[in-house]
Amino acid sequence: MATQPAVLITGASSGIGMTYADRFARRGHDLVLVARDGFRLEILAQHLRQETGVTIDVIPADLMKSGERALVETRLRDDPRIGILVNNAGAAMAGGYETQDADAVERLMALNTTALARLASAVAPRFVKAGEGAIVNIGSVVSLMPEFGQTVYGATKAFVLFFSQGLAFELGPKGIYVQAVLPAGTRTEIWERAGADPAALPPLMEVGDLVDAALVGFDRREAVTIPPLHDAAQWDAFDAARRAMLPGFGAVLPAERYRS
Ligand SMILES: NC(=O)c1ccc[n+]([C@@H]2O[C@H](COP(=O)([O-])OP(=O)(O)OC[C@H]3O[C@@H](n4cnc5c(N)ncnc54)[C@H](OP(=O)(O)O)[C@@H]3O)[C@@H](O)[C@H]2O)c1
Repeated sequence: MATQPAVLITGASSGIGMTYADRFARRGHDLVLVARDGFRLEILAQHLRQETGVTIDVIPADLMKSGERALVETRLRDDPRIGILVNNAGAAMAGGYETQDADAVERLMALNTTALARLASAVAPRFVKAGEGAIVNIGSVVSLMPEFGQTVYGATKAFVLFFSQGLAFELGPKGIYVQAVLPAGTRTEIWERAGADPAALPPLMEVGDLVDAALVGFDRREAVTIPPLHDAAQWDAFDAARRAMLPGFGAVLPAERYRS
């Protein structure tokens, strides 16, 4: 019997989520796997049950559909065995902003931000009551790169970063660990699904390397984990510059440069 908390992973049917499932199963955690493609989830679950002996449940659900998402929210709210949420399901969109359809933009925001926040909302009160639990949110380095030209995707991932940092501030003192993971280009299906030109892909990290690095950050209880960033001092300096501005935000008079 597993002595570790069970892990609910969204977007577990491929890529980063599937790799998290593999790694947590090998660490002895029971799993609850969520994605739309129930067939792929079941194949993965069978394979991991055989290899590791952990218990794995599968919830086929489209997180953009409120009725299906509610099944996942209910499970997170009511199942005390789940002690880790990996908010990984997400998508990207090819093309420049002026070519992107507004309904598709709304759907992307619903998956990358609304669903992620709703699942965290479902589980947070129970974690706070228990005084423990972990929420892992998969963001992206694109959240720090308006120059990448993926404005809506990057904005959804900026939401993920801020949301994670805010939750860490609010829930950390209550015993909850919140991690934002910021991958850069990683070899998964996301590129093909988004309709990206295969000839124009950036250099890609292997998905196993990405998740193994993210788990090193998880074990260290890092708030923000950026596997491709070799110089950790750069993030520290960036965050220190942000923090240095905070006292100035309390000024009641506009800055000198705005006075005519
Ligand atoms: N790969 C990269 O370069 C990269 C870089 C930075 C950040 N990320 C982030 O990493 C996360 C995982 O992406 P990935 O690269 O592993 O891509 P992926 O291989 O395309 O996996 C996406 C996962 O999300 C699931 N999903 C998509 N739409 C869904 C929906 N409406 N409801 C439920 N599940 C849904 C997919 O399964 P179904 O189709 O079965 O639903 C799949 O399991 C995303 O949040 C992505 O933004 C990726």
